[in-house]
Amino acid sequence: MKAFSSSDDQPRLRADDFRLLRDLVNDHAGLHFDDGSLYLFERRLGERVAALELGGFDEYYKYLRFNARGKAEIEESIERLTTKETYFFRQEYQLRSFANELLPRLAEANRDSGQLTVWSAGCSTGEEAYTVAILIARSGLFQGWNVRVVGSDISRRNVATARRGTYRAASFRTTPPEIRREYFVEEPEGVRVVERIRAMCHFGQLNLLDRTRAALVGRADAVFCRNVLIYFDMRSRKKVIDNLYDRLTPGGFLMLGHSESLLNVSTAFELVHLSEDLVYRKPLAARRWDGSSP
Ligand SMILES: C[S@@+](CC[C@H](N)C(=O)[O-])C[C@H]1O[C@@H](n2cnc3c(N)ncnc32)[C@H](O)[C@@H]1O
Repeated sequence: MKAFSSSDDQPRLRADDFRLLRDLVNDHAGLHFDDGSLYLFERRLGERVAALELGGFDEYYKYLRFNARGKAEIEESIERLTTKETYFFRQEYQLRSFANELLPRLAEANRDSGQLTVWSAGCSTGEEAYTVAILIARSGLFQGWNVRVVGSDISRRNVATARRGTYRAASFRTTPPEIRREYFVEEPEGVRVVERIRAMCHFGQLNLLDRTRAALVGRADAVFCRNVLIYFDMRSRKKVIDNLYDRLTPGGFLMLGHSESLLNVSTAFELVHLSEDLVYRKPLAARRWDGSSP
């Protein structure tokens, strides 16, 4: 039976199919959707049911599970269901604390190695990673160092946009004018990050639940994972935090979004009070909380 309404030819999503799709998305990406999200799924995935010429959402579910192209289609559905909202210099008070209080500590701690890696985990279209690179460059503390800013996101489209490094006005809603003048150039397609900042940044597609692929990031001295975990269920948050913990160097810092915390997620981190913010730190004598070595 074709599950399409007669009025607008949009496929209708039944509650039991919604629950199956929701669980599949949750298993794959960690995203949590409550019962009120049925219409969001119907709107955002309905076009895919039509594009694949399927009879309804029940067939779409089977396609995702069993078709040879199912895995690619799960990625497509996640592209459509994630919130990509981001902009340069988001949560400015936290960035000030990072620049004024954490970068000097990292410069001191890593003086011998001359290496610094900061990871923007769930970077969306790249604004957060470029912001971090600009702060590092402006600090003047890392000249001649091997500095890497790694940006990763589950969405291939976001990663492609990040690599392009060209943005529209909405990305600059809280960018100080002097920064915009110094680190961006106007081009016909939009406003582009200058080359010396782009050269510090490396972007890749990564599902934060995937521990094996996360290891490709290497060791990070600081991780920004902001406005990502709010969309996850508790089990997936724990998994992601576990992965980020593994990637951090002992003494390394974790920055979350303003409405996010590790309460009920992990006790493995220390809380660090900065003048304008609270951040988390992997203890210097870090052991995994299950008692084994890191
Ligand atoms: C709201 S944006 C946050 C962007 C940026 N961190 C910020 O605070 O402005 C959330 C991003 O998390 C990504 N995301 C969602 N689930 C993910 C997963 N399992 N692995 C990696 N990234 C994920 C989404 O694609 C989206 O780009």
